Amino acid sequence: MKNASDRSKVGILGGGQLGRMLLQAAANYHVETFVLENDPECPAAHLCNHFTKGDIKDFNTVYNFGKGLDAITIEIENVNIEALEKLEAEGVKVFPKPSVLRIIKNKILQKQYYKEHQVPTADFKITNHFAEITEMESFLPAVHKLGEGGYDGRGVQIIRSKADIEKGFDAPSVLEKMVDIDKEIAIIIAINEKGATAIYPPVAMIFDPNLNMLDYQLCPADLSKQTLWKVEAVALAVIRNFKSPGIFAVEMFVDRTGDVFVNETAPRVHNSGHHTIEAHYSSQFDMLWRLMLGYPLGNTEFILPSVMVNIVGADGYSGDVIYEGLEEVLKIENAFVHLYGKKQTKPGRKMGHVTILSAEKQDLLHKSNKIKNNLVVKA
Ligand SMILES: Nc1ncnc2c1ncn2[C@@H]1O[C@H](COP(=O)(O)OP(=O)(O)O)[C@@H](O)[C@H]1O
Ligand SMILES: [Mg+2]
Repeated sequence: MKNASDRSKVGILGGGQLGRMLLQAAANYHVETFVLENDPECPAAHLCNHFTKGDIKDFNTVYNFGKGLDAITIEIENVNIEALEKLEAEGVKVFPKPSVLRIIKNKILQKQYYKEHQVPTADFKITNHFAEITEMESFLPAVHKLGEGGYDGRGVQIIRSKADIEKGFDAPSVLEKMVDIDKEIAIIIAINEKGATAIYPPVAMIFDPNLNMLDYQLCPADLSKQTLWKVEAVALAVIRNFKSPGIFAVEMFVDRTGDVFVNETAPRVHNSGHHTIEAHYSSQFDMLWRLMLGYPLGNTEFILPSVMVNIVGADGYSGDVIYEGLEEVLKIENAFVHLYGKKQTKPGRKMGHVTILSAEKQDLLHKSNKIKNNLVVKA
């Protein structure tokens, strides 16, 4: 029998930076934390109460880790879903539900879910083998996406014309019509066990056209009232049919005619919500604890507008990390630095982020440029 004074036992599958920030927020609550991850030096290893070294993709490892916990969550989709289903059947609360993970983990199932539930998304075809793309020339320009295993742009190939077809994947994938993107938007939504929702203001994700990587994120995104209503309604439409509590990040495209398309959804705390730690009353991490512990939803409003810049490993450097220019960045007013504690850097690896708060958009952009020009992650 559990006493009222007992701390809830909550486990996290994965020990990366998302787990680390989730644990920082856990310190405010009456909770005992557990992390499962193969790398004992991972970002979350030293912030939890109990660390278990093990493979989050292995049935027995996940099942044994989760047995006896009150709740369990993920910080990455690539986990053993069967074990989570068994744990759920035995009374462990799983955030999000394994049924949702099954859909989202696979981009083919995810796209089919949108179609079935009348969620606007770019038209698509499913390809199982490379040869099938060669027959879809009339569908180009399009974007080819691996069904499983891709992240941060790996697993995505732009196929503009016949000449690009060779870049396509020879594995189950989605071939999606190219959208003439005006803005990329992400909305984080929380939904509790009773179905009550809390929605964060939309974030604009600005990509570096040369690197094909996120350049910076601005919150709130600059949207007309009409587009704001549209993206909020679409984000709600995505999560409504999941019938699962949790935090969801819905990535959307707004095209040049103002139409909205869902790109993809993450069923967890997300990179596009890092700024909520300092810029919002209740962060996405705080919000997830509220959900998992059965507390009221938090306040999603922003305190001040913000920009978030990812700190990634510079090209040409692999090995023990050195942060060059950190002092300059720490001198910037209202810039909040997060380093994830990764010992090794490599090109493009997410090593940290900086969130800047200011009422003035120009000030935000000026400071984010200053950060990008000063801070270099070398080895
Ligand atoms: N249908 C599309 N039309 C135009 N650009 C796209 C389309 N799908 C994806 N992209 C571009 O590729 C990026 C990565 O695709 P995404 O599906 O989000 O993959 P990942 O899982 O790696 O984030 C998007 O952020 C967007 O810039
Ligand atoms: Mg994406």
